[in-house]
Amino acid sequence: MLTDKPVPASLELAQELSQSEEPVLRGYQQMEQFKVPSGFRGRSKLYVQLWWLVQSTLFAMSPQMMYGWRANLLRLFGARIGKSTIIRPSVKIPYPWKLTIGDHCHIGDDVHLYTYGEIEIGDCAVVSQRSYLCTGSHDYTSPTFDIFAKKIVIGAEAWVATDVFVAPGVTIGHGAVVGARSSVFHDIPPAAIAVGTPAKVVGERKMRVSHP
Ligand SMILES: CC(C)(COP(=O)(O)OP(=O)(O)OC[C@H]1O[C@@H](n2cnc3c(N)ncnc32)[C@H](O)[C@@H]1OP(=O)(O)O)[C@@H](O)C(=O)NCCC(=O)NCCS
Repeated sequence: MLTDKPVPASLELAQELSQSEEPVLRGYQQMEQFKVPSGFRGRSKLYVQLWWLVQSTLFAMSPQMMYGWRANLLRLFGARIGKSTIIRPSVKIPYPWKLTIGDHCHIGDDVHLYTYGEIEIGDCAVVSQRSYLCTGSHDYTSPTFDIFAKKIVIGAEAWVATDVFVAPGVTIGHGAVVGARSSVFHDIPPAAIAVGTPAKVVGERKMRVSHP
């Protein structure tokens, strides 16, 4: 049961109280006052619902090889998608009007392009299966758990390997490689190889043939 008791003054006190028989304390997240700011979605609630309906039917149920069809559905809902870009049917995009993908990109199975803020993916970039590009977060110091979003940029020719988490505001540089199961909280420079949680640069991407 929730009560309106004051916030505990310290972590020790909070732990002590949480072990007692007292009802749960209030004061960290008053979720009943949580609101999505006006204009945050970038379209009306009805329009968002219409896209989600299209996404779960015409988009998600389309045969895998119908890449042009899915690109066109995204374009219809405001995304900017380049030519010959491969987007799998299981990809999830809440607000396509905040998405820009260049030419010849590959977006793998079960990738989440969580477009609360803008996501920009450059030409020839690859985002492998199950990766999660997360533009949204919450200010956990605000009692109303305010939501915010920051743009993510994946540079041209970058490879985000499988099951990578990319945090709000991150830019992954041109040609960079982020290894499988990494979590990226800071920008990755161009042509860097980065791995781990939090991702750290461990090398430079050197090519077997010289650049044109
Ligand atoms: C990042 C990656 C490309 C590096 O490949 P590589 O240059 O051949 O590197 P290696 O496999 O020789 O590994 C070099 C070192 O980095 C470590 N390493 C490699 N990938 C790592 C990762 N994702 N996370 C943490 N450490 C990693 C290795 O353990 C090894 O450490 P060691 O020197 O202490 O033994 C590769 O490991 C990777 O993550 N591939 C992604 C695979 C994938 O997502 N496939 C989906 C296809 S769609």
